Amino acid sequence: MMCSVFVFAIVLLGFVNCQQEDACKTKSRVIGDITYCDRYWECVNGQPELYDCPNGLVYAGKNRGVTEGCDYPWRSNYCEGKQQANPPIGTDHCDWLYGIFGHETSCTRYWTCWNGTATEQLCIGGLLYNERTHSCDWPENVDGCQKHPLCNDDANGNVPLGKSCNRYWQCQGGYPRLQRCPAMLVFDRRSLRCVVPPTEDCDVPTTPAAPAMLVFDRRSLRCVVPPTEDCDVPTTPAAPIEEDGEQNIPQGVPGKPDINLPPGAIPVPSKNRNRN
Ligand SMILES: *[C@@H]1O[C@H](CO)[C@@H](O)[C@H](O)[C@H]1NC(C)=O
Repeated sequence: MMCSVFVFAIVLLGFVNCQQEDACKTKSRVIGDITYCDRYWECVNGQPELYDCPNGLVYAGKNRGVTEGCDYPWRSNYCEGKQQANPPIGTDHCDWLYGIFGHETSCTRYWTCWNGTATEQLCIGGLLYNERTHSCDWPENVDGCQKHPLCNDDANGNVPLGKSCNRYWQCQGGYPRLQRCPAMLVFDRRSLRCVVPPTEDCDVPTTPAAPAMLVFDRRSLRCVVPPTEDCDVPTTPAAPIEEDGEQNIPQGVPGKPDINLPPGAIPVPSKNRNRN
């Protein structure tokens, strides 16, 4: 129907708008299908041949997108006025073989899928995964995850982060923000503050920096120079004490000394982070 409407215009303009253009007559020798956004034509040995994008991706243009000229559908209006020819092929955690998908049980995690292989990713700095933008976002922008369950007990309290000795969550009005104790201090899961080690779970940090003689101030909820109402000048860290052989010494990731992630977490590749 659309075609018949356009026929007159086509004749006038002298080019065909509603018929598939021949890939072999284009400069790049590859062109998107006019009906299906996940298909494209490529000129092979003088003949146009039809190809499917990898499952979950749609055609973006030669040398564009994330692989084979294909891209995540939500990155542009690739499919406007077109359909997808291929149904999703799902694997564990992946709705399609390629894509970025929400986590089943966590607001701070998500999955990146590449050829059906899922990699768990973590939103850092108190950000949450936003299904709509497929990126990490401020909690207030993420429907259903505004107030993180992490902060249910105390909307403005501190919460231990896994077994981490120097990272913790600071809840601000129910929104968790990732925080880090100053060098030489460890997070004490009993008092929920940064303290001079050792604590029950944490020894002296293995990566000594300039001695930061700060204490966590429960009024300003920041690390400050002592004394505060509750804290005096920290004492010199004592030698580690073997308690039950299960020492939890904070260890920096080689080359990335600032990152101390909970077990099972994988940092978001910097490529993704920049895009987000
Ligand atoms: C995707 O994975 C399948 C097996 O699961 C493999 O046969 C295929 O070569 C892979 N494709 C790419 C582009 O890596």
